[in-house]
Order: sequence, then structure tokens, then C-alpha cells
Amino acid sequence: MEIIGHRGSAGTAPENTLLGVKVALEAGVSWIEIDVRWAANELFVIHDESVARTTNGTGSIYSKSLAEIQSLDAGAGQTIPTLTQVLDTIAADAALNIELKDTASLQPTLALVRELLNRDPAWHEQIMLSSFEQSIHHTLSENLPQGCLLGILLKEIPADIVSYAARLQAFSLNLSVPQLDEALVNNAHAQGLEVFVYTVNEESDIDKCLQLGVDAIYTDFPARALRLVEIKTRSVSDA
Ligand code: G3P
Ligand code: MG
Repeated sequence: MEIIGHRGSAGTAPENTLLGVKVALEAGVSWIEIDVRWAANELFVIHDESVARTTNGTGSIYSKSLAEIQSLDAGAGQTIPTLTQVLDTIAADAALNIELKDTASLQPTLALVRELLNRDPAWHEQIMLSSFEQSIHHTLSENLPQGCLLGILLKEIPADIVSYAARLQAFSLNLSVPQLDEALVNNAHAQGLEVFVYTVNEESDIDKCLQLGVDAIYTDFPARALRLVEIKTRSVSDA
């Protein structure tokens, strides 16, 4: 089971920052997840529309200039990074899940990823684009650059989610812990879809994901999750 640093390493470093990304890489994750919004003509890595929770500022990121956004303190001396800065920091040492938080980020992200995949084969199948928006799923599916993966997130799981994702040629179903269900995992696997689960911080949830054969978990504590999964899978294979 792969470990994905959620928002970098949100439990141990400021979320969605270059420091968080570096902490996750140092822990040894094979994947990192970050959230992206298009503001001031740039792709910024931030979860909320408001900057209040994660920086020393207030108000919507969309109401700010480039200079205002870049002057915000995101904690531990960090600023809100751009997607390009995150890609440069990871340098394909881990795969990257870019979660699109607004529709405006869609085309700029596609253009950036297409250019990156053309330029650097190391990123081939190392970038996943995901979103909760169904209109974005369809646009991504039709315009996905060669070698880029699609992940399906939905707030509510429809009965036909597996065929929906398979029709879109998605790589994975990205489920929340409450959405996790044995039959759904088996059905997804039978259709060739991987199952990723967020946000798995509790040991009991790690156990459940291992038991159900989940492919990857998003966690705020990647170093701890890597340690636990290593121990648990070692004892299973030794038994
Ligand atoms: O992509 C998985 C997870 O990050 C989705 O939820 O709210 O943490 O972005 P959220
Ligand atoms: Mg996210």
C-alpha cells in the first residue's frame, strides 16, 4: 500500500507548502497530494478559498494581487507556493496528485502538465489530476495529456461510480474513509481501477485499508504511516 503525503505533510509541517513537500519526501513517500487554485494569473497551492486558516492574512485568495499573495506567511517561514515550485521541488522523486479546487485552474494546469510531460519523461505516469467537480472530470478525461493519470473524487458516491470512472478512463477512485466499502473496492479492482483513500491518520483506518487491499492512502502523518504499514505488512508476510 502506497503512502501519499496529504497537502505535503499537513500533520507535521504547514500544509501545502514547500517545507511540507520536503518533509514528505524525506519521510520516503511515493506520492504527494496538493490542492491548486488559479488566482492572480498563477496556479497557487492552497486548499481553502480563504487565506485565513493557513496564513496570517484574511479574505479570499481571488481578491488579492500576486504580490499580496506572495507576501502572506503560511507558517514556519513559508509562503503559498506555486504549482511550478512544487513540481521543481519534487523533481519526479515522488508522484504528484494535483487536486483542482476551482474550474479556472483546469486549463492552466493541463497546459503546464502537458508541457512538463513533453519535456521530462521522468514524470510519465507520475502526475494525477483529480477534482470533486464532475464537469472537470469530463474535461480532464477528454483532454488528459499522454502519461497523465485521472483520479475521481465525489462528495456523494453514486451506485454506478465504478462504471462512471471506467467510462472516463480514470486511473483511480479516490474515496474518503467513510465512503470506503469492501464491495466497492472489489468492484473497482475488477474494472482495473485503483482505490486511493483519504484522509487516513488513525491506525484503525490504516488496518482497514490494508485489510481491504486499498492501493494508496492519503495521510497527514506520512512518516508514521510508512512506519506502521512497513511493520504491519512485514508481520503479515512473515506469518
Ligand atoms: O485528494 C484527496 C483529499 O485531499 C480530498 O479532500 O478536502 O483534503 O482536499 P481535501
Ligand atoms: Mg486535497
